[in-house]
Amino acid sequence: MKTIEWLGDSLRILDQTKLPVESVYLWTKSYEDVAGAIEHMQVRGAPAIGATAAYGFALGALAYEGSREGLDAYMEKVSARLESTRPTAVNLFWALRRMQDTLREARSVEDLAEVRKLLVQEADKIADDDRRMNRLLGEHGNALVPPKAAILTHCNAGSLATVDYGTALGVVRAAVAAGKEIKVYADETRPFLQGARLTAWELMQDGIPVTLIADNMAGFLMQQGKVDLVIVGADRIAANGDTANKIGTYSLAVLAHVHGIPFYVAAPTSTIDLKMAGGQDIPIEERAGKEIREFRGIPVAPADVPVYNPAFDVTPAKYITGIISEKGVVSPPYSVNFLKIMVRPS
Ligand code: MRU
Repeated sequence: MKTIEWLGDSLRILDQTKLPVESVYLWTKSYEDVAGAIEHMQVRGAPAIGATAAYGFALGALAYEGSREGLDAYMEKVSARLESTRPTAVNLFWALRRMQDTLREARSVEDLAEVRKLLVQEADKIADDDRRMNRLLGEHGNALVPPKAAILTHCNAGSLATVDYGTALGVVRAAVAAGKEIKVYADETRPFLQGARLTAWELMQDGIPVTLIADNMAGFLMQQGKVDLVIVGADRIAANGDTANKIGTYSLAVLAHVHGIPFYVAAPTSTIDLKMAGGQDIPIEERAGKEIREFRGIPVAPADVPVYNPAFDVTPAKYITGIISEKGVVSPPYSVNFLKIMVRPS
């Protein structure tokens, strides 16, 4: 099932809040619909959010009814709304910047229909690039995976979090395709349960062996020697390699370090934000307390208990063995080695 699909005048989104119980689609017909779907996490995962926002931008232009002169100012409003949805994944801002650049390059194009066409083409290109990059990233990551491996992952960095194939799960898919004997341990990933609801479902759909564990079991599995390597995705990687990813990633990285287990981050270079010197600069989204107090409307805690709900944490670069990108595997020191790959074509 496709995470997102452009239908010419609307964007079809697989509603991830309903998985794995129901597989239902949302038809987003306006940029507001798209912003709502990102905010409510009906579509989530850094690269998927980026591509979705790009189509949201295109939908804004498609629905615009004013003159050519007024378009740029209107699109600033559209972009600001889409940017306001989620703060941590840099791919959202990266994709919207590409859309804004396309609009700027089209400033001499008088015909609105032509401008709209260029914007849809750019959104298609962002989506196509994502598909292509994930395959490349998967191949690079596969080189790090032994012929027989138990891989622990957190959250969902699979095809559901991207346009297709996935980043961390892209590496898993490439290793399976190469004939390796792979077993995945999926952390359930409290409180939104992306691991339980999405990673477990996605891998089972593909017939890849997966075992679900509660988040607090990872340390024990490592102690028992059941984990060969950890691979996670990323929402934003700072210039020094510090990595923001789903809350709980930091704990896993420290555990992996203590147990001498390699800990890899798999992400396209669009997730690297050289403007952020270190992890302390990365904005961390805080979500509503009810995500912890309830599950799908069922109370699991006292209704009025105070809650702190950061959606992401930052793993210091010193705990990351390597960063797997579409341009190859980057080793520490990241601040030096990022500069080398950022100029290299993929
Ligand atoms: O809050 P989410 O579900 O959007 O968080 C997703 C993650 O943290 C993923 O690991 C990350 O975006 C990488 S997805 C390829």
